[in-house]
Amino acid sequence: MNYLFIILLIVLLGIAFPKILKLIKHKSLYPFMPYKYNFRRRRITFSKTLQLLNERNAKILVETGTSRNGLKGTKTDGGATIVFGKWAKENNAKLHSVDISKDSVQGAQKAVQEENLQDSTTVHLGDSLDFLKNFNESIDFLYLDSYDYSKTDIEIQKKSQEHHLQEFILAEDKLHDKSIVLIDDCRLPGGGKGKTVVEYMLKKDWEILINAYQILLVKK
Ligand SMILES: C[S@@+](CC[C@H](N)C(=O)[O-])C[C@H]1O[C@@H](n2cnc3c(N)ncnc32)[C@H](O)[C@@H]1O
Repeated sequence: MNYLFIILLIVLLGIAFPKILKLIKHKSLYPFMPYKYNFRRRRITFSKTLQLLNERNAKILVETGTSRNGLKGTKTDGGATIVFGKWAKENNAKLHSVDISKDSVQGAQKAVQEENLQDSTTVHLGDSLDFLKNFNESIDFLYLDSYDYSKTDIEIQKKSQEHHLQEFILAEDKLHDKSIVLIDDCRLPGGGKGKTVVEYMLKKDWEILINAYQILLVKK
């Protein structure tokens, strides 16, 4: 009888364990975003960024590299265009997201329409460097997430890091004392997208608030 009970318990635990593990690993931005979206390694930095956007009353948000898969990409790409586009909509702000790929722009525009964010969110087709050079508004939040990184190809790593540095340099004179900068895909072999740009920023008057998969920086 006791044996039967123990076996039953083990079987039940075996069934429940993966579900419990999944629940623990699930990282949502609820209540801001519906619970079903899992932001995984970006939850901590997205959450803090949303708090700072609120506190600092941000009005102009700029993202390089758009959410080509909309909210289907929350676990992989991040889904930032929809997250920050939604925040912009609810806070009378504006998000500009720029991408060099026609397919990515089309994918993001479809998601923006589906979420009814078209009044707050514009997805631009073009090179982020051209876009930032010609952008003539003050930037309250800058999110760098364009040139795709490689975990293995050192040439691509260097090009991606250099590209993100150039993006920051072109945006630098549009940033102010209360601006927020977030850089994606940092905790990766070779230092990630942020390696060179963060080194540059730390030599200036920026400091790291969160150093995780993404790096979040503000002025000292
Ligand atoms: C990782 S995805 C961006 C993910 C998005 N930020 C999100 O949170 O879902 C990277 C995007 O950067 C774009 N990209 C690559 N090089 C670029 C460049 N020079 N200028 C603008 N976008 C670029 C790619 O086309 C791709 O769509």
